[in-house]
Amino acid sequence: MKNKLSLLLATSFLLLTACGSQAKTYLESDYILELPYQENFRVLQLTDLHISDKDNQDRHYAFMDLTITDSQPNLIVVTGDLFTFASKNTAKKLFSYLDSHNVPWTVTFGNHDEQCLFSVEWLTNYLTNYGSNCIFKDLIDDDVYGNCNFVINLMKNDTVFEQIFIVDSNRYNYGGYFGYDYIKKGQVNWYEKMVNYTTEQNGGIVTPSILYCHIPLPEIDEAWEKAQAGDPEATLDYGEKRENSSPPKFNSGLFHKIIELGSTRAMFFGHDHLNNFRVTYKGVTFGYGIKSTDRIYFDEDMMGGRTMIIHDDHSLTYEDHYHTYAEVN
Ligand SMILES: [Fe+2]
Repeated sequence: MKNKLSLLLATSFLLLTACGSQAKTYLESDYILELPYQENFRVLQLTDLHISDKDNQDRHYAFMDLTITDSQPNLIVVTGDLFTFASKNTAKKLFSYLDSHNVPWTVTFGNHDEQCLFSVEWLTNYLTNYGSNCIFKDLIDDDVYGNCNFVINLMKNDTVFEQIFIVDSNRYNYGGYFGYDYIKKGQVNWYEKMVNYTTEQNGGIVTPSILYCHIPLPEIDEAWEKAQAGDPEATLDYGEKRENSSPPKFNSGLFHKIIELGSTRAMFFGHDHLNNFRVTYKGVTFGYGIKSTDRIYFDEDMMGGRTMIIHDDHSLTYEDHYHTYAEVN
């Protein structure tokens, strides 16, 4: 009996150890990719493409070409909801389209990117191994929640000039409440670790950064409302709010951490297709992107993309691009 009990305990221990070993802690440097900084670096944000198998996909690509031609970007970031009900072939076609511009490109995922004929794991694996102009990394067995948490270092003279955080705002939450998921506390800890690591590498000087994710942070409404009320903490820099924002119901504290660490001074979302505003709140610019196809729901006069220009003195300026499908039909 005693032997049987020991065997049971030993088996349980081995099982627990095996389960525990699935989540691995990686070094900060493992999450970093690099690109050379170029003068007046142009980052084009495209968002909420929602491409599906039933679409005339070439029509979307001709439409996005208009914005990419306007922008002349040094980097393209697609901030989620790339697909809805898409097959692997459709996904591969989009990536090959993005890659055809000979410009580095990356993506973060939206809540709809799991509603496809492939898994998010297939997507991350495909992108991680894509090569060519794709800048993407997912450490599949790491202990950071989500499928696309990584940092792009813009390098100038062998030092990190600027950082771009790509964060997974995840998909749907089923525990505690049902609705849009949130950036987990562990991801906030990871963000802090990454900022502190770069500060240390940079001799104690905090490196400026930008952050992209899909679902807006819970502070989005507060920022908008304070700007509307003329509160000195918030300024409306640009754009409109044509629909209610739909942030997650739970706040894991990323915005507070951003203010505390003083690295990220601009962050951009997708998700709410009829909002394109930018508000500077407590010194951080909160911005929606501009929807980049006519899929799902959209306004004819609010489609295109946005270029953020990172200048040599780290100041940021923006160019907002608008087009209609009448230009390509
Ligand atoms: Fe969307």
